[in-house]
Amino acid sequence: MSQELGGEKTRGARIVPAEAGLEEAVARLRAGQLVAFPTETVYGLGANALDGEAVASIFAAKGRPASNPVIVHVADPEAAAPLVRDWSATAQRLAERFWPGPLTLVVPRSAAVPDIVTAGGDTVGIRIPAHPVARELLRHVGIPIAAPSANRSEEVSPTTAQHVADSLGPWVRDLLILDGGPCEVGLESTVVDITLDPPHILRPGILTEEQVREITGGAISGAAPRGGVARSPGQMTRHYAPGIPVLVLPTQAIREALEPDDALLFISVQLGAPYRGALPFERGVVMSSHADRYGRRLYSALRQMESLGARRILIEEPPHGPEWAAIHDRLRRAAAPKTSYE
Ligand code: TXA
Ligand code: MG
Repeated sequence: MSQELGGEKTRGARIVPAEAGLEEAVARLRAGQLVAFPTETVYGLGANALDGEAVASIFAAKGRPASNPVIVHVADPEAAAPLVRDWSATAQRLAERFWPGPLTLVVPRSAAVPDIVTAGGDTVGIRIPAHPVARELLRHVGIPIAAPSANRSEEVSPTTAQHVADSLGPWVRDLLILDGGPCEVGLESTVVDITLDPPHILRPGILTEEQVREITGGAISGAAPRGGVARSPGQMTRHYAPGIPVLVLPTQAIREALEPDDALLFISVQLGAPYRGALPFERGVVMSSHADRYGRRLYSALRQMESLGARRILIEEPPHGPEWAAIHDRLRRAAAPKTSYE
């Protein structure tokens, strides 16, 4: 029952309402196949985490470098236990406070986890997602599910079922995509490595550094000081990026830089008026001045602007502050020049 992956382009993705597709999704996952499903952060491309071959097909479908470990999703803490060698008091406190939710804990792995999941490292990233469809799927399937974001490597993560079909449809024959509507959060989970002291926030998310610190006492942002983990692609400069240049500029600089074939994501009302004269109407998106709503909309706005054939995407620099940290992180990566990171 293997799926055809990676090679010749296909157009086979099937978007099915989550409830109607649940049973088939469970059967496919148990048979070692891929299924895309919604989480509250972004859509994931899932496979049986205990089946190295099934996980290998995730890497093929995404064109993902083998050096990039994947997150394992479980239904409840009991399901996480067999994957973990040492469950610390810090892990317990963070899990109690934030699970189910947009937090990935990097903890020491057990021998049950295939090497390919951890990119050969001695840690595993685990998360209990909060989305009802993801929870239902995990409960029914009864196995841990490895799932990176359901997009080709380096692309912006998908926040709707259609995004998944657009990104992976050409690369996986007959991919089943459970449709659970647009993702609430819209940005990937906060990844915290608690094998380090103090814990390191490897990837910022809507759970802020401050919120993590309240539980752990200390935490710092940034790359972990060792091999496998430091190579976390969430930390690679260019990631989560559209296929066209992205420029993040202050309000005044936007006015000066804007050209007729650009697209514009802006917050300030005062940019609305000049933009209307300068660009086709559909190539401007008004973004919220609230970080949570901005984050929910960001990836779909980037995809939309790219699909409209813009030459560049200009983004008005959003406000700063703890709740904007994940958004600035993603904007920085989206704006990084296209280079190979391997
Ligand atoms: O919100 C999310 O986390 C989504 C949904 C589907 O759960 N998943 C997601 O997966 O964003 P992915 O593979 O696109 O990003 C996972 C990030 C990567 O930066 C990866 O390097 C890091 O988590 N990661 C996973 N396991 C790790 C580990 N053992 N040590 C260090 N970093 C790890
Ligand atoms: Mg990803």
